[in-house]
Amino acid sequence: MKSRCANWRRGKPNSRNRVSWKLSAENIIAFKNDPAVMAEAKKEFETRCVVCHGALGEGLIGPNLTDEYWLHGAAVTDFYKVIDEGVPAKGMVPWGPVLGSETVMKMAAYVDSLRGTNPPNPKEPQGEKVGTGPSAEASGQGAAPESEG
Ligand code: HEC
Repeated sequence: MKSRCANWRRGKPNSRNRVSWKLSAENIIAFKNDPAVMAEAKKEFETRCVVCHGALGEGLIGPNLTDEYWLHGAAVTDFYKVIDEGVPAKGMVPWGPVLGSETVMKMAAYVDSLRGTNPPNPKEPQGEKVGTGPSAEASGQGAAPESEG
């Protein structure tokens, strides 16, 4: 009897060793909660997005990303979609082919982190008011990301 008990611990080798990330709101939120990923995303934002969205996301040619108003939805998966596919007719670049899916997820997480930050000189609101609560619709409250030590 006594030797069997240890076996249950051995299941699922490497189940946490994910290399590629599946697109989901939970995984985008997990990126947002990872300071190293957010530092990386901030650099990417400064390189590629500030020309149109402003240094702090306050809006220039493109909309303010820090306020309560959104043209294309306020869930992190909405951010993913608009960053991935762009809105070519309106001047938003489709970044998916340039950055790849994982980086687009990180950028969606970064956009979520800008919400409610209140930078100076905000652009006037565009779109529908949905509230500033970060990822209110999509965070999937119960789904706390597993943090890898
Ligand atoms: C060449 C200018 C330009 C660049 C560069 C750009 N955007 Fe945009 N972006 C826009 C415009 C214009 C819109 C509004 C599209 C519309 O009117 O439908 C937009 C919309 C968005 C939205 C949706 C906002 C809403 O209200 O729903 C997000 C999110 C976004 N951009 C993120 C990014 C990110 C992240 C980057 C960098 C990887 C980026 N954008 C780079 C011009 C740009």
